[in-house]
Amino acid sequence: MTDLPDFPDHMLSLSVARVAEQAALASADWVGRGDEQSADQAAVNAMREQLNLLDISGTVVIGEGERDQAPMLFIGEEVGTGEGPAVDIALDPLEGTTLTAKDMPNALTVIAMGPRGSMLHAPDVYMDKLAVGPGLPQGVVTLDMSPADRVTTLAKAKGCTAKDITVCILERPRHEDMIYDVRQTGASVRLITDGDIAGVMHCVDSATTGIDMYMGSGGAPEGVLAAAALKCMGGQISGRLIFRNNDERRRAEKAGITDFDRIYTRDEMVTADVIFAASGVTSGTLLPGVKRDGGWLETSTLLMRSKTRSVRHICCRMPMKTD
Ligand code: FBP
Repeated sequence: MTDLPDFPDHMLSLSVARVAEQAALASADWVGRGDEQSADQAAVNAMREQLNLLDISGTVVIGEGERDQAPMLFIGEEVGTGEGPAVDIALDPLEGTTLTAKDMPNALTVIAMGPRGSMLHAPDVYMDKLAVGPGLPQGVVTLDMSPADRVTTLAKAKGCTAKDITVCILERPRHEDMIYDVRQTGASVRLITDGDIAGVMHCVDSATTGIDMYMGSGGAPEGVLAAAALKCMGGQISGRLIFRNNDERRRAEKAGITDFDRIYTRDEMVTADVIFAASGVTSGTLLPGVKRDGGWLETSTLLMRSKTRSVRHICCRMPMKTD
C-alpha cells in the first residue's frame, strides 16, 4: 500500500452506489433503441449530476475523454461540492454503448473512487490486458508469454489440462491469431462482443462463470476500472499501453506517462484502497439490468470496498416518476 491519505470509503460507498444506479436508470430508457450516443449521454448526465451532489473535492482521472472531445466528465473535470475529501474518480458512465443500443447482455455503469493519486491516469488508448482470478501465484501468467503458453501455464497452476481452461476474449479481427493460438492448445474461447470490464471480472469466480482467464486488447480506461474491481474482489490483472501513433504517445505524456513499454500490475494501476460500484443496465452474467414492473423500477448494483474486501449486492426498488 502507499502513503496516500486515507479517505472515508465507508461513508462514501453508498453514495458511489447511487451514482452508478442513477446512471443505469437514465440509460435504461435507451435500451434496444439503436441510439448509442443518446444512451451514453443519458448516463453521463446522470452520473455528473449525482457526483455534483456529493461532499467531495473530486477530480475525474478516467472519464469520457480529453476536455476538447468531451464536454462533461472529461479528464481533469472537478466534481462534487468541493467541501469534502480530495478524491480521484475513474468512471465509464456506460460500459457497453452498443450492448445497450442492441439490448445485449452485460451493459454496465461503472465508477471507482479513491484518494487523490490512487489511480493510473490512463489515456484513451488501447491496453493489452491479461487477467486471472484469485488464489494463484503472483505473476503466474504474463503479457510476455505467448497466448498458448499462458493457457498451458495456467492449466498447470490449476492442476488441470488446457482442455479445462476457458479464455474470454473480445471478438475483434485484431484478436484472430490469439483466438486461433488459444484454441490450438485445446482450451475453449468465450467470445464477447463488448464489455471487457465484465470480461475481466468474470475470472474471479470461474466456478460460476466458467471463465479462467481474460486476454486481449481493449480500452486502457476500462483496464484501470477492471483493476479497481479486482483490487476489491481479488485476482490479478496486468496491462501494457498500446500506442498506434504519435498523437496517442502525446496523450500519454500529457497524462504523465514516460515509460511507454511498462507493464502495469493491478496494484500499480490502482495504488491505494478504492470503492468500486457497477449497476446493470441490461441483464447479464454479472448483474440483472434495470427492471420495470407495475409502476416500479428496480436497479441492481455491485458495491465493493478494497479495504474490507466487502462485496454488496444492492437491489433498489423505487416508484416510477409519474410527472
Ligand atoms: P463502449 O461502451 O465505450 O462502446 O466500450 C465498449 C468496449 O467493448 C470496452 O469494453 C472495450 O474496452 C472497448 O470497447 C474495446 O474497444 P474496440 O471496440 O475499439 O475494440
